[in-house]
Amino acid sequence: MAAPAVYGNWKMNLDVVEAIHLTQQLGVLLRRSPLEHVEVGVAPPFVDLRSVGSVIEADRLGLVLCAQHVNEHESGAHTGEVSLAMLERLGVRAVIVGHSERRRLYGMDDALVARTLARVAGAGLRAILCVGEGLEVREAGGEAAFVAEQLRAALAGLAEGARAHVTVAYEPLWAIGTGVVAEAAQVAAQNRSIRATLADLGVDAPVLYGGSVSAENAAELAHDGAVDGFLVGGASLRAEAFHAVCRALDDCYAANR
Ligand code: 13P
Repeated sequence: MAAPAVYGNWKMNLDVVEAIHLTQQLGVLLRRSPLEHVEVGVAPPFVDLRSVGSVIEADRLGLVLCAQHVNEHESGAHTGEVSLAMLERLGVRAVIVGHSERRRLYGMDDALVARTLARVAGAGLRAILCVGEGLEVREAGGEAAFVAEQLRAALAGLAEGARAHVTVAYEPLWAIGTGVVAEAAQVAAQNRSIRATLADLGVDAPVLYGGSVSAENAAELAHDGAVDGFLVGGASLRAEAFHAVCRALDDCYAANR
């Protein structure tokens, strides 16, 4: 059974002062209502990593420090980019790879996703690989095949030793930031198909769901969607809402698994 996890993807939100404040608020809630089963991580913008990492360490919050992206190369002439070694030095232990916003807005194709994933997982950091279909694909009934292809493209060539470091996040594009959450049954169906593809590829990875996850829908998604956790956008920017999502998953595990 995969360890349950919730990661907050702050995207391009919160300057360093706001980021410190949110981390401290989250710390208060986690101390007041600790989680027993669920690993919790936050993925702030690059410029906030150092400060958020310091709060996590000083207050012993046990949060996993995550990055939203990393460059595929080791170092060199890549203006505006950040390397994995730089992130590791700041205490980053997990990196989101191939988020749909990177794929759609910044030209990250399947081949680049695969190379970036190999860099992250190959170094022993957790690579949170994002996959998910757009609305047109879903309406045409092609969602299972589309996501299977994304998984194959990213994972087929991955070295055996790196596979244990992969987490998959299923994030249907039509549910991201829209308030339209996938139904638990849709998530469960896609999860079954993702797990079958992963088994084919010899990868035993936790499968998370992302897309308008909130305090209100997390319990149902965790239970009926049979997910191993969540990748949370908007709701992760508010400490209470994010903590409630983590709490819902933790309670689900305590009760059922
Ligand atoms: P929302 O939770 O805001 O829909 O974002 C989901 C997401 O993209 C997380 O990576």
